[in-house]
Amino acid sequence: GWTMTDVMEEEIKVIKEMVGAEDHVICALSGGVDSTVAATLVHKAIGDRLHCVFVDNGLLRFKERERVMETFEKDLHLPVTCVDAVEQFLSKLKGVVDPEAKRKIIGKEFICIFDAFAHDMEQKTGKKPAYLVQGTLYPDVIESCPPPGSGRTHSHTIKSHHNVGGLPKDMKLKLIEPLKLLFKDEVRELGRILNVPVPFLKRHPFPGPGLAVRVLGDVTEGNALDILRQVDEIFIQSIKDAGLYDSIWQAFAVFLPIRSVGVQGDQRTHSHVVALRAVTSQDGMTADWYNFEHKFLDDVARKICNSVRGVNRVVQDITSKPPSTIEWE
Ligand code: XMP
Repeated sequence: GWTMTDVMEEEIKVIKEMVGAEDHVICALSGGVDSTVAATLVHKAIGDRLHCVFVDNGLLRFKERERVMETFEKDLHLPVTCVDAVEQFLSKLKGVVDPEAKRKIIGKEFICIFDAFAHDMEQKTGKKPAYLVQGTLYPDVIESCPPPGSGRTHSHTIKSHHNVGGLPKDMKLKLIEPLKLLFKDEVRELGRILNVPVPFLKRHPFPGPGLAVRVLGDVTEGNALDILRQVDEIFIQSIKDAGLYDSIWQAFAVFLPIRSVGVQGDQRTHSHVVALRAVTSQDGMTADWYNFEHKFLDDVARKICNSVRGVNRVVQDITSKPPSTIEWE
């Protein structure tokens, strides 16, 4: 049978053949497990002809940019350029409420940035990147464009995960997707073989469009992103403190586009409502909602309302996938 070591060696061989001895490659690093394992693999195949780019699109979690950049330098020794594209993304998302429209806009902006980065690199160094590495997994492929024979047609597409099928036709970079046939648990195993630190491999999945699909409606409205970051941070820290992080596939907060009446101090408030979601899963294709103890939920809800200005109500999502998807958008 095939082991993950065989898969790794085969992938390295394929990447070497594809890229050849001259070409340069860009890797879109998100800070997540998939793109990091993909980058580490390609780095092993072609060494310093790999150039990693991390884009701050304004849709990242609390202090994520600083945390990710530090991890890459200190623990992974991968050279990374950070591109600040906050304004570029948020201005394009202004007024957009449809989830698929958000995904398309974000996917397109990412590609613009990578094309521009490649162009810049050629101007400055004379080296012209010809390839773009993405950490696409098998479930992303299945859910975005069901393969022939799977019994699902394109009209059954659940979500156009931005990195699958939605790339502009005029993109100049050719794609390398070395994890395209793997499931998450296999990617984590591959990461272990590649010596990616284990705590890093245990990170929960985070969607490419980031907080854009966790602020329902217009992400640029008010301080929704900022509120969501604070709530999410409290929730995740509480999960870590309770020792539950590794038992959960994914946990996060969602900003709802409604206000509710509350009473805080002696004051009537008309403030925001946030939802908490935590699920267990094997591969993200199906999922069960995670049943926290009452005490845990009570502590988290109090902490959120006491410390995040503008939030007066916390609800928990108790649906599984199906019928719901993991993300709300
Ligand atoms: P859903 O919400 O479709 O999510 O049940 C399944 C898994 O995929 C992640 N997800 C995305 N990942 N781009 C991504 O890279 C996307 O557009 C996207 N939408 C959902 C989600 O976080 C979960 O892990």
